Amino acid sequence: MALNNGCIQLFYISYFYRKFQNKMNYSGKTVWITGASSGIGAELAKLFAQEGARVLISSHEAEELEGVRKELESVSTDVHTVVFNLGDPDEVKSTAEKVLAEYGRVDVLMNNGGISTRAEAIETSIEMDRTVMEIDYFSGVILAKILLPAMIENGYGHIGVTSSISGKFGWPLRSAYAAAKHALFGFYKSLWAENNKKGIRVTLFSPGRVRTNISYHALLKDGKEHGKMDPGLDKGITPAACARKMIKAMKRNRKDVLIGSTELIMVWIHKYCKPLYHRMVNRVPVN
Ligand SMILES: NC(=O)c1ccc[n+]([C@@H]2O[C@H](COP(=O)([O-])OP(=O)(O)OC[C@H]3O[C@@H](n4cnc5c(N)ncnc54)[C@H](OP(=O)(O)O)[C@@H]3O)[C@@H](O)[C@H]2O)c1
Repeated sequence: MALNNGCIQLFYISYFYRKFQNKMNYSGKTVWITGASSGIGAELAKLFAQEGARVLISSHEAEELEGVRKELESVSTDVHTVVFNLGDPDEVKSTAEKVLAEYGRVDVLMNNGGISTRAEAIETSIEMDRTVMEIDYFSGVILAKILLPAMIENGYGHIGVTSSISGKFGWPLRSAYAAAKHALFGFYKSLWAENNKKGIRVTLFSPGRVRTNISYHALLKDGKEHGKMDPGLDKGITPAACARKMIKAMKRNRKDVLIGSTELIMVWIHKYCKPLYHRMVNRVPVN
């Protein structure tokens, strides 16, 4: 009987705690989202704007970014474009410094921009490996390092990082992409361990399949774009659904979040049933 009462009390405490967390909103916060010209990033921008945040949206395509800003005008007039190339470390650094000088603070940094690959490791030039690392990994690291001291001084900062299920296991034609997405875990988990007592939150997202342009822009072995929607990706969840789950997870201060549908089972297969994972990987055509 006492055990039953304890369980009921625990249930109510956790229910109301979750309800309280969901009520938290980003009104008055400054949120900077990279990769916001399309897909997941553009949907994140909409949701943060709806909550009353000042939203800085970034990508290296000024026109597309301006299109997103215009679309959000009916939701918020506090959305601003910051155009820069994630693949150029000097530009990333100078942009972060400019943003801090102009807006005074960034409370939430969404390191979301990225590029994928469709090329065998043996055919991928080291230059291409470095390009992917620069865009998918180092750019966000540079931003985090520049913004972190001010976040700590303010006693609050949240860094959201879009990794991938490719950051959980290897897969054919994804060596550079999977390497960059794995690296994010090592860096941000350590950064969290060093700074969580100073008010810094970190949430790592591992989406599975989300119906965006990611496969169109994925790099082939010759550096050209893949230019196709992958059939699997086409069956993925919508970017809007992905963005909603991301923000919900951030409000709950979750650290490591899988987002997607049936494809997420691969993460568990890789973790708990290695022989099956090896069989599945061996059946993927590489040519
Ligand atoms: N879709 C999925 O199934 C899936 C699954 C797991 C993880 N993810 C991750 O989710 C994130 C967002 O991708 P998405 O799916 O929303 O695809 P997307 O629509 O192609 O968005 C990618 C974003 O990254 C930006 N970007 C790429 N290269 C850039 C560069 N050099 N400089 C500045 N911005 C650059 C793009 O902006 P431009 O306009 O400048 O090209 C675009 O805004 C990526 O990190 C991706 O790896 C996606």
